[in-house]
Amino acid sequence: MGGWSAEREVSLMSGAGVADALESLGYKVTRLDMGRDVAERIAEAKPDLVFNALHGTPGEDGSVQGMLDLMGVRYTHSGMVTSVIAVDKQLTKQALVPHGIRMPGGHVVKSESLYFGDPLARPYVLKPVNEGSSVGVAIVTAEGNYGEPIGRHVAGPWQDFDELLAEPFIRGRELTTAVLGGRALGVTELRPKSGFYDYDAKYTEGLTEHVCPANIPPNIAEACLEIALKAHKLLGCKGASRSDFRWDDERGAEGLYLLEVNTQPGMTPLSLVPEQGRLVGLSYAELVDAIVKEALG
Ligand code: DAL
Ligand code: MG
Repeated sequence: MGGWSAEREVSLMSGAGVADALESLGYKVTRLDMGRDVAERIAEAKPDLVFNALHGTPGEDGSVQGMLDLMGVRYTHSGMVTSVIAVDKQLTKQALVPHGIRMPGGHVVKSESLYFGDPLARPYVLKPVNEGSSVGVAIVTAEGNYGEPIGRHVAGPWQDFDELLAEPFIRGRELTTAVLGGRALGVTELRPKSGFYDYDAKYTEGLTEHVCPANIPPNIAEACLEIALKAHKLLGCKGASRSDFRWDDERGAEGLYLLEVNTQPGMTPLSLVPEQGRLVGLSYAELVDAIVKEALG
């Protein structure tokens, strides 16, 4: 847990929840806030299993997975190659779109190019290719919430990232589906009070209404379950993953877009995978146990 990514605080919350649950189940737990000495400390602890509760770099991008592979230590969630692909939103599209999964178009741009104009017709979204929790995401609206050209006057992700993914903004609704083992658990709709499911809306109690199960037509719910499971399998995910969607409800099933697949989904008290676990009768501890059993199995 922990580490040095922008999602350090989220990971500490996920890690604390998981460690408490593991202890309540009778497992012997060593809590490790990841630092540069992580390999040494894992070698000392000689665990049967590492429960990976990291988010972002380097715990979700294949680095920690590769290190543990070399050390011969088993771990939860996805392996190295899956993590490398899934953490990168552009690589994920290259892997999934040829298999008929609809994802937004767009392309990666040099952040400095934003000083000279828009990379796409507005409205569009700018996001780092490999961050989580909406860190560094900006929605550039048609009306223009930034000066023209956008990078010049207003602080934004273009100042922190060399490259950004520019994607057309999909109007409509925010949906998500967790997959555990071979099963898609359900569909949740996120209704952030601010209209944007950003970092604060994700982790501040009361800022987002979670409608679980989502009140959407059965064909859209079915499509979310089917696409999330297909993406999980195509990418070779293990343990839990979570697929995030935008649904343009004016366009029916044609308006459903997969945005990304999260291979280290949050396990905080407000997180979505535990919430969907409850939909299928799994308590938080039972969900953690299922992830452990799959990794050991
Ligand atoms: N990146 C956060 C932790 C999530 O996907 O839940
Ligand atoms: Mg994400």
